[in-house]
Amino acid sequence: MPSTRHTLAALATLFVASVSLTASAQSTGPIKIGLMLPYTGTYAGLGNAIENGFKLYVQEQGGKLGGREVQYFKVDDESEPSKATDNVNKLIKRDNVDVLVGTVHSGVALAMAKAAKENNTLLVIPNAGADAITGPLCSANIVRSSFSNWQPGYAMGVVAGTKGIKRAMTITWAYAAGAESTKGFTEGLEKGGGKVVKDLTLPFPNVEFQALLTEIAAQKPDAVYAFFAGGGAVKFVKDYAAAGLNKTIPLYGPGFLTDGTLEAQGASAQNMLTTLHYADNLDTPRNNNFRKAYAIAFKTQPDVYAVQGYDAAQILAAGLKAVNGDLSKRDALTAAMHKITVDSPRGKFTISPAGNPVQDIYLREVKGNNNEFRSVAVKSLSDPARGCKL
Ligand code: PHB
Repeated sequence: MPSTRHTLAALATLFVASVSLTASAQSTGPIKIGLMLPYTGTYAGLGNAIENGFKLYVQEQGGKLGGREVQYFKVDDESEPSKATDNVNKLIKRDNVDVLVGTVHSGVALAMAKAAKENNTLLVIPNAGADAITGPLCSANIVRSSFSNWQPGYAMGVVAGTKGIKRAMTITWAYAAGAESTKGFTEGLEKGGGKVVKDLTLPFPNVEFQALLTEIAAQKPDAVYAFFAGGGAVKFVKDYAAAGLNKTIPLYGPGFLTDGTLEAQGASAQNMLTTLHYADNLDTPRNNNFRKAYAIAFKTQPDVYAVQGYDAAQILAAGLKAVNGDLSKRDALTAAMHKITVDSPRGKFTISPAGNPVQDIYLREVKGNNNEFRSVAVKSLSDPARGCKL
């Protein structure tokens, strides 16, 4: 029978061995990246573009980040908030990923942010704009490569104000992104002396717009501001034009209304004005090279979602580089992710202390299949980060 002392010594050796195994798993072998994105439903195209953009940047680094190979794990979140906690736990608990990357839908992303905080998992958000994530839920281990819902909405409100819009209506899906985007628009418009006379909503992801379009026709506002994206944006812009409303009431929106959608929207979207942190024809070497590489790799043109995926990988890469791929050096890693100036196809931008891009918002106009740059609507726009305490 081994003595108690021997047993304790053996246990101690085992413990040390397992601790050092954990430590080395944090600094060697592949980095496990969990992609939680919509691959089905109205936002499926957005999820695919984000994944493509992310993988393009990793490929450009020779397939390595911070000197380590990358291993991907994927979950289709279906843009379904009720399944979000289960889905994110598949990546955190089952697959044991080192980093979460996701997602598109604000409601799903809110659940991801809560899980990331509870489990102290690193989270990079390549789209979802939920204001709370870089507001009350802000955290050192959460960084966004995209925007807050407030940002493009506010910029479009400012533009509408300068165009003399006095009475506007908004229309959107009834969930965080729609509510926050239209709120931002209202704030910007009010600064210019206009106001929103009515907010119209329908449940996500419904596309039965007829009754609401009839109401717009009856109210005759000076302009309409709409937040829709993906498949829903295609249908809305087409229905708006089919009802003849685009001839008399300008349709404005955040750029999501016309990004990645123009081939399907065709004539119905021509000449529309939107605001966003990207425009297709930005004539810089960075954007031109990105667009060429993306088109070669994926046989399709990139959009804002592809850019955000690409930049999510850039931000993560900067963090990993600072610690030589050693994930146990968490503070240095997240500090580097916040300190970066991202050399993005959209133009250079920085990250606020709350973890959100500080970036120029452009006014764009639809010409053919492109969202063409017209002007800078608001320079270096920073989300107010209301409620963020770090
Ligand atoms: C969101 O839910 O935050 C969201 C979804 C699609 C977009 C933009 C924002 O294009």
